[in-house]
Amino acid sequence: MRRIKIFDTTLRDGEQSPGVALSPDEKVAIAKQLARLGVDIIEAGFPIASPGDFDAVRRIAEEVEGPTIAALARTAKADIERAAEAIEPAAKRRIHTFIATSPVHMEKKLRMTPDEVVERAAWAVKFARGFVDDVEFSAEDAGRSDPDFLVRIFGEAIAAGATTINIPDTVGYQVPWKFGELVGYIIENTPGAEKVDWSVHTHDDLGMATVNSLAAVRAGATQVECTVNGIGERAGNASLEEVVMALYTRRDFFEAETGINTRELYRTSQLVSRLTGMVVPPNKAVVGRNAFAHEAGIHQDGVLKARETYEIMNAETVGREAAVMVLGKHSGRHAFKKALAELGYEIKGDEELKRLFARFKEIADRKKQVSSEDLIALVEDERTRAPEMFKLLDMQVHSGLALTPVATVRVKTPDDEVTEAATGDGPVDAVYKAISRAVGLSPTLERYRIEATTGGTEALGEVMVRLRQGSVVVTGRGIAPDVVEASARAYLDALNKLVAGVGSREVVESP
Ligand code: KIV
Ligand code: ZN
Repeated sequence: MRRIKIFDTTLRDGEQSPGVALSPDEKVAIAKQLARLGVDIIEAGFPIASPGDFDAVRRIAEEVEGPTIAALARTAKADIERAAEAIEPAAKRRIHTFIATSPVHMEKKLRMTPDEVVERAAWAVKFARGFVDDVEFSAEDAGRSDPDFLVRIFGEAIAAGATTINIPDTVGYQVPWKFGELVGYIIENTPGAEKVDWSVHTHDDLGMATVNSLAAVRAGATQVECTVNGIGERAGNASLEEVVMALYTRRDFFEAETGINTRELYRTSQLVSRLTGMVVPPNKAVVGRNAFAHEAGIHQDGVLKARETYEIMNAETVGREAAVMVLGKHSGRHAFKKALAELGYEIKGDEELKRLFARFKEIADRKKQVSSEDLIALVEDERTRAPEMFKLLDMQVHSGLALTPVATVRVKTPDDEVTEAATGDGPVDAVYKAISRAVGLSPTLERYRIEATTGGTEALGEVMVRLRQGSVVVTGRGIAPDVVEASARAYLDALNKLVAGVGSREVVESP
């Protein structure tokens, strides 16, 4: 069995998905889960892009143990220095530097000759090696580059000290037959090929990201770059769970294995979906709601007789059938702590336990049963919430078929307690208008999404909102047994992030 490294770029390419803006706390929560999942490398971000990106990479380097922590840098001095500074605290660290190699990118975007590009790439790799022993070099838009030019630039990058060479299909143009051929040709012809890891990074513009990565593995690639749920720039990247489960399920064919703990796949998918606000389509392979559901009578009959009639993977293998654990208002601190430990949460000291337990009691008082899904939502909500500059103290809402909805809210602000009322098109609209008045902020509500943590009317409501003020985009989340309250909490969480300056985005140009 060949060992294939999984390089996760959910926090870098995935975070480039339009509309996604994760706070440093949210990125750390995802990175910790990726470490539990067993990825080999976490690409934590692009530190030169913004102070927020830098802080998140630095915190991941400080707090996340296990995987190598990588940071992205163009082939520019300032980028590489900033990347090196951000990953400095990590036990295992990598600088990932890239420059475009396709004729259209070199001529139109970089306005550099091929010779200049080769020279710049070799310089950047050498400069990065001055900071770390582990340097990855990527040829952006390799999928549309001349194979012999790739052989040349990769040979120079290896001579300059690169330890991993990445072949990205940046625009998702490749097809598996051609991509496999390209990867095979490059590995066979590049001087020094045997000294490095060969990586691929595929995009899904034609729906072929996963299969292109798998074709590359067949052709000799030893690392696959992918994202959880396949999120990423435009149509996204190769989906981590698809690549991993294809290699696992068809190990007879690929004769390759990864270091992934597949039982953590579903939970990782749920966490990434919850924090990014990117919904997982119900029919998504491996992690979609319907991926293990059987509707047709003939299929149900078959599965009841023998699972393998219609299932090529076990739901348990991807962590989908976690023991249903139910707590209630009589459950004590000990049972609560034990339930969290079984879900894989390590509680950081008495203070965190006290806070989480108080939230749990509040919910258990209003809801008969608190399921494991509710507990996961509660912990993630508590751990990723922005510091509460504004806090909801109370709210009342009146609405009905023949009534204009009216909301009154009492909000704690840094210097006062403010009560405001407003009417709206619906109860949520009325609450948002009242809160906006109370805190003196009225950003644009770009997105509102509501979901139930479990089935049934007793489920906790989980709301995600995205707000924009100028170029700053933030997302907020709230959970509560009452959906209007969950909506208010999500709105206040986003406003708190806005005032804390979390989530801004800047345009980064080519070197
Ligand atoms: O798609 C791409 O080319 C990238 C590189 C930075 C690896 O994301
Ligand atoms: Zn990419």
